[in-house]
Amino acid sequence: MCGIVGYVGSRQAKTVLLGMMLRLEYRGYDSCGLATVETGVNLVKAATRVQDLADRGMEMPGTYGIGHTRWASVGTVTQENAHPFMACDQAVVIAHNGNIKNFAELKKRLENSGHQFSSQTDSEVIAHLTEEYYQGDLVDALGKAVKELDGPFAVIALHPDNRRLVAAVNGCPIVIGLGEGENWLASDVPALLEYTGRVIHLEDGDIAAVEADSVKIYAKGRLVSRANQTIGWAPEAVARAGYQHLMLKEIHEQPRIIRNIIQRKQSAWLPGDSFGETTCGVLLIGCGSSYHACLAGKILIERLSGIQANAELATELFDVTGSTRRYRAVIGLSQSGETADTCAALDRQRQAGFYTVAVSNVPGSRITRLAEQTILTDAGPEMSVAATKSFTAQLVTLLNMGLALPLKEPKRALDLTGELRALPARLQRILDREDAHASAARWLASFKNIICIGRGIFLPIALECALKLKEITYIHAEGCAAGELKHGTLALLSPVTPVIAFMGTDETRAQMLTAIREVKARGVPVLAIAPEGEEDLEDLADRVILLPRTDPLLQPVLAAAAAQMLAYHAALSLNLPIDNPRNLAKSVTVE
Ligand code: AGP
Repeated sequence: MCGIVGYVGSRQAKTVLLGMMLRLEYRGYDSCGLATVETGVNLVKAATRVQDLADRGMEMPGTYGIGHTRWASVGTVTQENAHPFMACDQAVVIAHNGNIKNFAELKKRLENSGHQFSSQTDSEVIAHLTEEYYQGDLVDALGKAVKELDGPFAVIALHPDNRRLVAAVNGCPIVIGLGEGENWLASDVPALLEYTGRVIHLEDGDIAAVEADSVKIYAKGRLVSRANQTIGWAPEAVARAGYQHLMLKEIHEQPRIIRNIIQRKQSAWLPGDSFGETTCGVLLIGCGSSYHACLAGKILIERLSGIQANAELATELFDVTGSTRRYRAVIGLSQSGETADTCAALDRQRQAGFYTVAVSNVPGSRITRLAEQTILTDAGPEMSVAATKSFTAQLVTLLNMGLALPLKEPKRALDLTGELRALPARLQRILDREDAHASAARWLASFKNIICIGRGIFLPIALECALKLKEITYIHAEGCAAGELKHGTLALLSPVTPVIAFMGTDETRAQMLTAIREVKARGVPVLAIAPEGEEDLEDLADRVILLPRTDPLLQPVLAAAAAQMLAYHAALSLNLPIDNPRNLAKSVTVE
């Protein structure tokens, strides 16, 4: 949430910063601003999108500066509340990502000592506090200021006294991009790819002083060295590449990504059973789409290995589960690797002594640094707010993880090998049927409420379909276990509230048919998404989308792709901002 960027070098900072801000808009796009320094500070900010600000063509000379794209948390969306913030001396300037819980007390104190505030935000206190401590050394001043903050933060500060950017982090990310005679700072790697693949991820507690030809990092007042990492992502990976939206491009990348994942053999990842009889398998945690992948992962792991698995929302996992259960491993799923709730929950489990595994799409991200073991989903950078390729990559990665465990039926691995190999081509067949999805999607877009149903491993897909619809079409959609309809949700159904039914090929098939009949008996429109071979459904459902048939454990991957296409085309027909839906940010870095 919120993207912050910085540049120091010999190029015109304005152009570099605006380009980086555009790349980070998925972290927030309520308002934006930037500051550059030539002799004094030039600062421009507005409650607008980055491109609109760039189109203003303002004069902002200077070869170092900072920028910000905001997801409002404290203070409404106005120009005054946009970042960067300048302190009273018009010299200390900061951009912040995070949540300062004690800002009201700090603000009162600073106001009492004469500081004048221009915004309602929590962030502005950091500028005034830094100014309060500033005596010619910005590293010292920002270091003292952030010691007073309660809550997660990533801050970049500048002062026209020195051609230097100073960054401080605690709980929110900052990556330093390393160049020759120039360096960059950003909340996330995609902002850096155009310039460099060499990066350093700052650790909590770090203060970095970044100049054009030097980077110094301090922890607890001492100079420390942090490992350089090389990011293998190409700059084109974050571009639309001729597609109308990043979401559509990312949907279409799935066959290639899945081909790569299945070619990779997952090595043993689960530690031995050190808790003996009291052990309770593995726990999967995540938020949003990653949580839905956890729900599917639970079924995949249990069906393949017989090892018990549980899935929990990271947002609801406050307790250290060790008090009641001993898990052999706690697996945190996070596309971004920065979701504060998932990182915090996994960290609590780690501190309680559990073995932790991160399943993430972003090498070097926070979750990968806190877990004992990392398994990368390798879907490449995902820029659209709605998770698509990362979700199916998580499903296939979890299947691989299941296959790397001692299997209940070793022959099962052989059956799956052929089906896995055929999966990318089958997925491609779905993506090639754009018209069928677009037509069903236009029909769906005419409703105000939609209920998505599934059973077994298709329940997570129904939940994911509802989430996709909510996120990008703003249609109220709910995912519901098909068997639960009769226990309440059926009361919502009517000829103007349709059902999307995800049919499985496993033992849940008959029950799904019963659910569809019950729904149809009440005059409710039904769109069935089913494997080929279910042509008879055309007599029962109003619309049917048939998908290639595969192994029951792989069918959800195909169903997820169909759900993504439906949501995408529904949003397209409603003319909505698909890649940047209202109120949402891709990386949720505050709890
Ligand atoms: C998915 O479409 C959403 N944008 C959202 O639910 C997301 O999956 C969630 O915020 C978790 O993100 P993560 O995977 O990066 O942790």
